[in-house]
Amino acid sequence: MKVILLGAPGSGKGTQAAYITDKYDLPHISTGDLFRDNIKNQTPLGQKVKAIMDTGNLCPDDLTVAMVKERLKEKDCENGYLLDGFPRNLFQAGELDKIDAPDVVINIEVDLEKIEHRITGRRSCANCKNSFHVDFIGDREACPDCGGKLVIRKDDNAETVRERLAVYQAQTLPLEEYYSKQGKLVSVDGDKSIEEVFAQIVKVLG
Ligand code: AP5
Repeated sequence: MKVILLGAPGSGKGTQAAYITDKYDLPHISTGDLFRDNIKNQTPLGQKVKAIMDTGNLCPDDLTVAMVKERLKEKDCENGYLLDGFPRNLFQAGELDKIDAPDVVINIEVDLEKIEHRITGRRSCANCKNSFHVDFIGDREACPDCGGKLVIRKDDNAETVRERLAVYQAQTLPLEEYYSKQGKLVSVDGDKSIEEVFAQIVKVLG
């Protein structure tokens, strides 16, 4: 099964991806996490994208597509994938269709007014990459899942969130029509609780 998680920044893609990979045998491929790993490891790719990510803009398509292409060649992708954060624009969607087209695209719909609160209160685990919100975990510093260090992402500030939302509306929203025309788009209500959103996704994936 080849699945894409589509949705605005902070819509819950990463949160749902953790639930999905627990239930289904799919590798979670988050382009944001792949870029952040490259930055942390100070690779040439990381050095090229760091400043761009800090502003909330999209990294160059050629670098992003090449990175995903390489990742999809790995053995764990033989029976499918769960893509989170890719594709992000029509060009990337067209490239993915040439490499390995998805079966289903789950679009997590949220009220954009709530996004800033979700993102500015997010804590991300430096180890397992899972995301949490201070509304639920308070001021704890260790990941509830693996005990790793909880950190605040560099792009999780109010100013960058506004830029990321603008980029989403201009470049990523047209993907809804693209995949709808292919008959692959299924929207779920992302304003429900994490468990309720997951239940809707399970109905789609079976
Ligand atoms: P990326 O890492 O992909 O970030 P994003 O798309 O902005 O998405 P987020 O990770 O912010 O949100 P999410 O939807 O995963 O939400 P989460 O589950 O954490 O991209 C970062 C950057 O990398 C980009 O800006 C770009 O520069 C670059 N990049 C990445 N991919 C690229 C590409 N393809 N092309 C070019 N550049 C690319 O949830 C958010 C918060 O809400 C958490 O605190 C969570 O606990 C909480 N929450 C989740 N679900 C619920 C719920 N149902 N109710 C209440 N709270 C909830």
